[in-house]
Amino acid sequence: MAEVIIVPDAPAGGAIVADEIARLIRRRPDAVLGLATGSTPLPVYEALRTRLSGVDVSQVRGFALDEYVGIDPAHPESYRSVISREVVEPLGFDPARIRTPDGSLEGIEHAGDAYEAAIEEAGGVDLQILGIGTDGHIGFNEPGSSFASRTRVKTLTRQTREDNARFFDSIDDVPMHCITQGLGTILRARHLVLLAFGAGKAEAVAGAVEGPVSASLPGSAIQLHPHVTVVVDEAAASRL
Ligand code: GLP
Repeated sequence: MAEVIIVPDAPAGGAIVADEIARLIRRRPDAVLGLATGSTPLPVYEALRTRLSGVDVSQVRGFALDEYVGIDPAHPESYRSVISREVVEPLGFDPARIRTPDGSLEGIEHAGDAYEAAIEEAGGVDLQILGIGTDGHIGFNEPGSSFASRTRVKTLTRQTREDNARFFDSIDDVPMHCITQGLGTILRARHLVLLAFGAGKAEAVAGAVEGPVSASLPGSAIQLHPHVTVVVDEAAASRL
């Protein structure tokens, strides 16, 4: 059963998770973080700025959950750019130790296996930060994704492209495909921390935390994991 922490607002949730991450890095300077994009984890990264000041973060390693396929890595909304801007630069992490899946068309055939191998080589993820999509997706594992899936190319649903259109000029600019860690990859992390804020996430949160474990709601895979923390505000917790 997941530990559910209800917080007054997103900054409070960010602070709790940032405390946990800072504790982990102090204990294990070469900790391996699983990094998520989207708006949800931003308060975590924001709070980490103060929590990690004065802490040696030169050995921290990190793996992003996903990336768009075919996007220019220099595009401001590529997840490589987002992770660099929101996490690597402000927190002073070593960019060579923080990876995102390779979404370039040239490398796409082997990118999934290469990413899995890199995670293995790092010793696995210690703490995986997760957001959740309104349809219950985690990473970019849309409904129907196998619980055993590993990093691979997926097609984005119309819903997710609409949800993410706000980061682009128009929905037509949102890529059609992505490369994402699989649910099986995510479940191998030692600690999963899922955050969700706002009423729009209430249904997905309820399904993930206490609905039937089903591929139709990928977030429900967290119920198969022995160490999960869910951090939600009142609105996102309203259907629990
Ligand atoms: C994207 C990301 C997910 C994220 C989800 C929710 O599709 N690939 O990792 O959890 O959106 O986004 P937000 O946090 O902006 O609501």
